[in-house]
Formats: sequence, C-alpha cells, structure tokens
Amino acid sequence: MPNREAATRLNSRTATAAPPVAVKANFNSIYDRPDPRAYFRELYGLDYIIPELASPVFSALVSKLEQLRGRPLRILDIGCSYGINAALLQFPVDLDRLAKRYANMSESDIGPAQLAMLDRSYFRSWPRRQIEMIGLDASAPAINFARTTGVLHNGVVGDFENHPLPQEAKDHLSSIDLVISTGAVGYVTEKTFAKVMAAIGEPRPWVASFVLRMYDYGKIATSLQSTGLETEKLTSTTFIQRRFKSEDECREVTSRLTELGIDPAGKESEGLLHADFYLSRPGDAVAAQTLGDLVSVAQGTRRAFGRRYLNRPGEPIRLVR
Ligand SMILES: C[S@@+](CC[C@H](N)C(=O)[O-])C[C@H]1O[C@@H](n2cnc3c(N)ncnc32)[C@H](O)[C@@H]1O
Repeated sequence: MPNREAATRLNSRTATAAPPVAVKANFNSIYDRPDPRAYFRELYGLDYIIPELASPVFSALVSKLEQLRGRPLRILDIGCSYGINAALLQFPVDLDRLAKRYANMSESDIGPAQLAMLDRSYFRSWPRRQIEMIGLDASAPAINFARTTGVLHNGVVGDFENHPLPQEAKDHLSSIDLVISTGAVGYVTEKTFAKVMAAIGEPRPWVASFVLRMYDYGKIATSLQSTGLETEKLTSTTFIQRRFKSEDECREVTSRLTELGIDPAGKESEGLLHADFYLSRPGDAVAAQTLGDLVSVAQGTRRAFGRRYLNRPGEPIRLVR
C-alpha cells in the first residue's frame, strides 16, 4: 500500500527560523587536519553514526536513480569531509570497521601522507560500486585526503556561503544526478545549495539531506522548489546523529527545540541528537512513488552477522560472511 502518511511536503509555510550554529558543540578544529584520525577520535567517540544510518537510504536512492537514468551515477556529497559517505556507498565497509582501522594507526607511527597511501591500497582491495563521487567541503585537507585515497573521484573546495563558485567547480558539478549530505546543513544553507543547483543544470538531480531537527530546511526547500524540485520530509523515522558532547550542549539544543515547538521527548531528551531526512525530486518522480515506499528503513541491517545466504535477483545463491 502506498505510504502517503510517512512523508510531508515542505513549503515556505513549514519553515522555522534557523538557530545559530553555536547552539551545537564546535568541532572546527578537527575538520582541517591532514587525515581523519582526530575526526574519528572526536566524533566517533561521541557515537557519531549518521553516515552509517544514512548509507542504506542513499543506497536505495542510488539504485532507483540508476534504474531511471540507465547508467552509473555522478553523486555530490555536500560537506563531505574525509569522504566517509563516499566510502560507505562504494565499498562494503562500515563505520565501525573504519573507526577501528584509524584507532590502530597512531600519528606517531604513520604520517598523513603514508596513511592516505595505505587507505588507497585498502579501498582498492574491496569490490567497488560503480558510481562517481564528487565531494564539496570548506576543508582543503579533508578533500585532498579523500581524493588521494580514491574514495572521491573529484573535489570542490570552498566556502560558498560567502564566496561564488569558481568556473572549475562549476565544471565538476555539471550533470550531477544525486546530491547528498549528512551533518552539513547548519554549516551550509540555501546559499550553497542555490549555487550548486545552478551549476548542475539539467536533468535536475535529486537532493537527499539528513538534517538535525533544530535546523530549518524550509529555505533550502524553497530554493530547490525554484529549480523544479519538490521536497518531502520522512515523518515516520528520525535518525540518531550522535550523543551530546556536554551538559551545555544538551541544555542549549533541547531548549532550542522546545522554543521551535519541536518536542525533544524520547529523542534529544535521551541524550542523543536526532536528524530528519528530506528528499527533493521533480514532481513526476514524487507522483510516481511515495517517499515512504522509496525509503523503507530496515533496522539492524548493518550489524556484523554470521555466514548467511544471499539470493539476489539474477545471481546464484551464495553464502557470504
Ligand atoms: C559534521 S561534519 C560532516 C562531515 C560528513 N558529512 C560526515 O557526516 O561524516 C561537517 C562538515 O562541514 C564542513 N563545512 C563547514 N562549513 C562549510 C561550508 N561553508 N561549506 C562546505 N562545507 C563546510 C566541515 O569542514 C565538515 O567537514
């Protein structure tokens, strides 16, 4: 049965005022390091799991769009950092595996350049999903690292909240099929999205964003609407981003949510930041399949299971670990 209740259309009337980024803890010092070890230590240390929870959702969208476009996709990750979404989408690795890998490589033993080359070999040793990943981030070191490891095929560095997109960046962005983001809205607003969308051109991409509940997506949705995309919010599910860093952050975020009329009970009140999922698509795609049907969230799928049988369409049954 079509799952119409699982989504709401977003328009300017559903928009709320954007809170200052300062309500949230500040992680700027870990975004600009030459490799992701501090990033993992700090954020994974706070159980930052949104890329892991987002990955099956993005993966379902990739499958659907591949089917519609009949070719491998070009995907842009806004606020991509060290390319974690790109790694999870392309390779059969999970966040736990990556975090353990980096935790075992101390900075005193292995420098960033050597780590990037080790990662390059590491990722090459896995089977890869055929997609082209482009990253956009204000951090040049993060993009450089992800490009060297090969998880990003190309990168756009810059703060497009405050600067125009250079021509070279526009060239990288043309004909992107899917725009994704996790943990980026708040840092990036409708200003960045509008510049990116203008550079992408036709056919219009789909835009899939995981957004902390305290951030307004209304202005981004309005800007996407002016490019022909309708935005829906998945209302049946929220996605845990991480736990609060401090008592102050807990107090600030929960009171901010209450001010916005969003009830933190059972979610942020339990010590965890939650994100909503938004998908923007052309109207004909929205009419053809509901968001609730497109994104069916199965819990527990990323757990490490024992040996199991796979029976995928067009493939023989096989036993995998
Ligand atoms: C919480 S991290 C999320 C990284 C990644 N998406 C993930 O989930 O692992 C936020 C990222 O936004 C980037 N960022 C901050 N301001 C930005 C801006 N104006 N434009 C692009 N990226 C920005 C930071 O450099 C950082 O990599």
